[in-house]
Amino acid sequence: MSKPKHHIFVCTQNRPPQHPRGSCAAKDSMAVLQAFWAELQKRQAYEQVGVTYSGCLGPCEHGPNVLIYPEGVLYNGVAPADVEEIFTSHIENGQPVKRLLAAESVW
Ligand code: FES
Repeated sequence: MSKPKHHIFVCTQNRPPQHPRGSCAAKDSMAVLQAFWAELQKRQAYEQVGVTYSGCLGPCEHGPNVLIYPEGVLYNGVAPADVEEIFTSHIENGQPVKRLLAAESVW
């Protein structure tokens, strides 16, 4: 396995119903993760990009949350429909998707 240039972490933390922090899983983050894996396959980008599920990244109320390293970019409220844009704009062209960036008060 080669060292990827980017590593995408998708929070799939789950919590019991009524938990005060909620969770990304309750906001369908598994569908976001599946969309990232599908996009990875479509682009055959396995040598450049790693996609991994993660536990809680912190700002649960803003999820589904996606964290990309080495840039240290946190996206909030990511939906499956956003994944293609994240790959094209951020991963391929180095331009983070501004409308999804976590606010400075969050990250
Ligand atoms: S549950 Fe996803 S950031 Fe906390």
